[in-house]
Amino acid sequence: MMIILALVTLTLIAGFLYWWLIIETEGVYLGRRVVVALYDLVAPRYDRIKQFDEQADLMLISQPIMSRLQPLADPLILDVATGTGRLPLLMARNASFQGHVIGLDASGRMLKRARQKVAAEHFVDFITLMRQDAGELPFPNDSFDAVTCLEALEFLPDPQAALAEMVRVLRPGGTLLATIRIDTRWMPDRAWSEGKMRRELEALAMCAIQFQIWQDDYTQVWARKAGDSPAVGAGKLAEVLASVS
Ligand SMILES: C[S@@+](CC[C@H](N)C(=O)[O-])C[C@H]1O[C@@H](n2cnc3c(N)ncnc32)[C@H](O)[C@@H]1O
Repeated sequence: MMIILALVTLTLIAGFLYWWLIIETEGVYLGRRVVVALYDLVAPRYDRIKQFDEQADLMLISQPIMSRLQPLADPLILDVATGTGRLPLLMARNASFQGHVIGLDASGRMLKRARQKVAAEHFVDFITLMRQDAGELPFPNDSFDAVTCLEALEFLPDPQAALAEMVRVLRPGGTLLATIRIDTRWMPDRAWSEGKMRRELEALAMCAIQFQIWQDDYTQVWARKAGDSPAVGAGKLAEVLASVS
């Protein structure tokens, strides 16, 4: 009887640990390699699992970005942890978009899927994809009109350093769109509350910080980099890419 009880207890603990470490927190407490390996594994099924609503995404992501960047029609945008290219594709599908999006991600297989979609929709002139870690962005300061990072900040090894990098490469007056998890219970030190996100952004001299209820799991966070500077524009793409070794 005692043995059965011990086995049941062990199975329950193992099940909980599997759920928490692999499913709920996607390997983040097991290190960067595990996170990337899990995304490599799930890449072929990622879009099917997520079931993004394209109309909602256009209305709540790409149109607000375009309107915040107005009158600039050809912005240079960086999408950090781009996954299968959700944000770059949304931007490129916008009829008025004449800019360029660099999407970077650490998972080769997520990028492979993104590349297939970009090629299938003939958007190669609008989107550049690169395998790169979010922790150290290979671009000069003030390189982008907008920087985005959707559903990813909490999975990065050092979210604070990654956010600082995003702000560094954003030009003064440029737009940042990031997301924070609504339910912070299972990732207490990683998933940031609105208060924590606001403090982090203010410490990075970001202003006009706004929180926008978005999906069941995530809140959008919009902010502007203090100061002003001329638009970068897609014409600077080659110059910005030249710094990538
Ligand atoms: C939940 S997905 C979000 C993808 C995309 N932004 C979206 O909204 O569909 C998280 C992404 O973060 C990427 N990622 C995780 N750790 C990373 C790191 N250290 N550097 C760059 N990307 C990373 C994963 O490979 C994955 O594609």
